[in-house]
This record gives sequence, structure tokens and C-alpha cells, in this order.
Amino acid sequence: MVELLDAQPGDRVLELAAGPGETGIKVLPRIQPGGELISTDGAPEMVEAARRRADELGLTGVRFGVENASALSLSDDAVDRVVCRFGIMLVPDMEAVASEIARVLRPGGTTVLAVWAGTSVNPWMTAPGKAAMDLGYMEPPDHDAPGPFRLSDPKRLRAVVESGGLAIEAIEEVPVSWVAGSLDEWWETTCDTSRMLTLLTERLTPEEIEQLRERAELNLAEFVQEDGSVAAPGVARVVLARSG
Ligand SMILES: C[S@@+](CC[C@H](N)C(=O)[O-])C[C@H]1O[C@@H](n2cnc3c(N)ncnc32)[C@H](O)[C@@H]1O
Repeated sequence: MVELLDAQPGDRVLELAAGPGETGIKVLPRIQPGGELISTDGAPEMVEAARRRADELGLTGVRFGVENASALSLSDDAVDRVVCRFGIMLVPDMEAVASEIARVLRPGGTTVLAVWAGTSVNPWMTAPGKAAMDLGYMEPPDHDAPGPFRLSDPKRLRAVVESGGLAIEAIEEVPVSWVAGSLDEWWETTCDTSRMLTLLTERLTPEEIEQLRERAELNLAEFVQEDGSVAAPGVARVVLARSG
């Protein structure tokens, strides 16, 4: 994403749905001297986490803000680049995000967005949901409800990005590698980061949760290494688009 964004010294870069801010922080050295990173998220707690991270790293040239990605407070043509990793598909009105990006980008400015490619190529993420459906604890999800795989169809991805008036220059598949020290660690991290799993486990008994966990771990068995660690493959899809 950082390479595709190709930010230059002096650029003003907006990060949307930044979470703890990692992607923007990786872009920051490229825009210095003179540039500015605007790191934003819809959740104030995430913005605070990103601010703390930047403080720990002693970063300068960053400002933080709570921003709903589908209704930004920035003025038109305010930034040179926009970056958003694994965020757009979680926003109810994805088309509004695309048009807000087009609005705040200066003419010719670029955006790089990352989404998850299909469920079958991201087993580390889908193992619990598949187990829950197999056990009858969950119905198959509505494909257009906000969620990690809502933009996994490249045609839908293209349509959403273009609906905002952005011109797509490239769509790339990027392999990712998910590594955990053990299945226990994988489960703990997944429980911490998956909203679906949080909501599901809230209504299951401890025995049902254990059953779910065992079934989910079976779905990952082929990726468990000899030393007990887990190394599962994944695929993201990254879009580069330009404002007109
Ligand atoms: C899966 S996390 C990705 C975080 C970060 N971009 C990363 O890759 O590590 C999704 C983020 O989207 C944020 N988010 C969800 N809906 C949003 C909205 N409408 N506007 C802005 N941020 C939103 C969440 O608060 C969360 O931090």
C-alpha cells in the first residue's frame, strides 16, 4: 500500500479508519520534510490508541481526528493522498466513503484502499465463522452487511470505488501471512479482534464455546507447524485510484 500510494515529501496524507494508525505511520517518512499525516478513525478510542503510538515513537507531522469515513469534516481538495486499510467494507454506506475520498482529494490526487479477497483464501479469518455455521450456531452472513468480506468480489469493489468518481489505475492481490505462536494465541487474538466472534460467544454457553473453538482449530489444522505455531496464508486486494 505504501509503495502504491507513492507519497512525496510535502504531501498531506489522510488515513481513514486508521485503527491504531499503522499504515499512516509507515507512510510518514515518505512525506517528510514538510508533509502532514491526518490519522483518523470513527472510534475515539482507536484515535487515542494511534495518538499514544505516535507519542511512543516520538513522531511529528501527524494530527489526529475522529472522522466518520462516510461524512468527513475536511474541506474539498484538502489532501494529496488518502489511504484506508481494511476499513471501507465496514462502513454502512461504502459509496459515500468513495465520494468523500474523491471530494477531499485534490484533482489528480491518489488513494489506496485495501480489502480482503475471498473467504476461501483467508482461512485464518474464516475458521471460526465456518465452525459456527457447521455447528448451527450461526446463519450464513448477509453478503452486503458490513463485514470483512463485503468487498471481496472485485466487480463490486470496482463499482463502489468508481461510484465516487474515482478512476481505478490498478487492482493488485497481495499475499499476507498470518503467524501465531500457537493455536491458543490465534484464538485469543481472533476473539479480541473479531466482532462476529465477540457477539457470538456472548450468547453461547462455555461448553458451546469450547466446541466452537475445537471445530475452528480443526479448520486450521493443516497450517499448524511442527513446533505448534500457526502459519496460515491470506490474500488482500489493494486498489489504487485517482481523483479526476
Ligand atoms: C479492521 S479495523 C482496521 C484498522 C486499520 N486500518 C488497520 O488496518 O490496522 C477497521 C477500523 O475501521 C473503523 N471504522 C469502522 N467504521 C468506521 C467509519 N464509519 N468511519 C471511520 N472509521 C470506521 C473501526 O473503528 C476500526 O478501527
